[in-house]
Amino acid sequence: MSVSWADTYAEQRPKAVALYGQAKGVIAGGVGHDVRHNAIAPMYIEHARGSRKWDVDGNEYIDYGMGNGALLLGHSHPAAIQAVQETVEKGLHFGNDHPRMVEWAGLIHELIPCAERVRFDNSGTEGTMLALRLARAYTGRTKVLRFEGHFSGWHDYVGKGAYPPFDKAVSLGIPQSTLDTILVIPADLDQVERTLRGDRDIAAVMLEPSGASWGTVPLTAAFNRGLRELTTRYEVPLIYDEVITGFRYSPGGYQGLIGVTPDLAVLGKIVTGGLPGGAVVGCAEIMKQFDYTGDREHDRYGRVSHLGTFNANPLSTASGIASLRLVADGSPGAQADRMADLLRRGMEEILEGEGAAGYAYGDSSVFHVYLEAYPGSGAKSRADLHTTDAATLKGIPGQVVTAFQRNLNIRGVDLMSYTGGLTSAAHTREDVDQTLTAFQETIQTLLETRVIGRVG
Ligand SMILES: Cc1ncc(COP(=O)(O)O)c(C=O)c1O
Repeated sequence: MSVSWADTYAEQRPKAVALYGQAKGVIAGGVGHDVRHNAIAPMYIEHARGSRKWDVDGNEYIDYGMGNGALLLGHSHPAAIQAVQETVEKGLHFGNDHPRMVEWAGLIHELIPCAERVRFDNSGTEGTMLALRLARAYTGRTKVLRFEGHFSGWHDYVGKGAYPPFDKAVSLGIPQSTLDTILVIPADLDQVERTLRGDRDIAAVMLEPSGASWGTVPLTAAFNRGLRELTTRYEVPLIYDEVITGFRYSPGGYQGLIGVTPDLAVLGKIVTGGLPGGAVVGCAEIMKQFDYTGDREHDRYGRVSHLGTFNANPLSTASGIASLRLVADGSPGAQADRMADLLRRGMEEILEGEGAAGYAYGDSSVFHVYLEAYPGSGAKSRADLHTTDAATLKGIPGQVVTAFQRNLNIRGVDLMSYTGGLTSAAHTREDVDQTLTAFQETIQTLLETRVIGRVG
């Protein structure tokens, strides 16, 4: 039976399969991003609008990836498209600052509580790398304290901790000396306290404030408050990686939602409204390390250096401003939240009704589905299933993830990655209803084919 959904997936996608054949001859690894890997064929999307996207074979999807989380307003929002069209007429890239960049920084400064100063870069990965450089320069220390399962991009300084086993490098090619600078512990305040007390070489604590991997392993506001208190007490800069949560959890990000102000925050995705780019923001005290003073000694040896050809490029600036202006009043986020809430509840009802060993969860406009591989853990009731353990929630076996994703794909639904997704302001009740039908059929199939287990 497991063959049949693989067959259906391939049969629905003859052009994608052919393209993938060509891609493997010219594209290293066959795809542009590890998460896009698919043994049959990755998705080749031709166009997208609102909550939907269409692939080269004409298959239509309700999209819960939304540009890897960049599109809170939905695909091809007219305001962002118009802003980019008007800008592109004036030139693609000047390699200079330009007036709209100041406007963009001003908007971010107004929205994000910790953003006394803003520095633009090109991606979330660049942002976390730069934030760590700032924290190291400020403290004169070396290490970063991270939590199990948290993802902060793909550079070497976060090269451990994102996937289980959390003490092993996520990739070949990362120097051991760099891995030694990364401390990974469970998200537990007692352990944080012990670690900060015992190791005075920690330059920063950096985390996804909503929890590991866009909330796959959720964190609470209470944890975040405790962490703020501990990092203040031990004088260790607190860095929020708000690449996902920024502007999504509230117009002021996760920090705006819960009223905890980190020292630095990393923004990406929504900040540009869907084009490449990002920003590091933070308190003036740390961000002033970028300043030139005119003193030769200081300017050569006493500051944090940062370059980047495409920083705050005009097109990303234009779509960023257009999107943030709309996001600012909170209504797009609220609509996205409502749709995710409907999805989570509907999925919960279905999982319960089918007796499946799994549950749906998440905050804001994010949903996740935890599923136990067949035969399941033998949980007697649905309540027994719940766990916040990172290794469990991030350890759903690959064959379950693939079967879940593929069954949804052949029914016209695409996830962000793993077993979860994100909604946008463009998602509707009709999308939710259609998704829940596909979800129910998927769960039934996975139970029938003994991919996932049952409760009781
Ligand atoms: C929380 C978080 N931090 C950092 C990144 C890296 O951002 P980018 O892919 O723009 O480099 C991501 C990307 O998904 C992310 O989710």
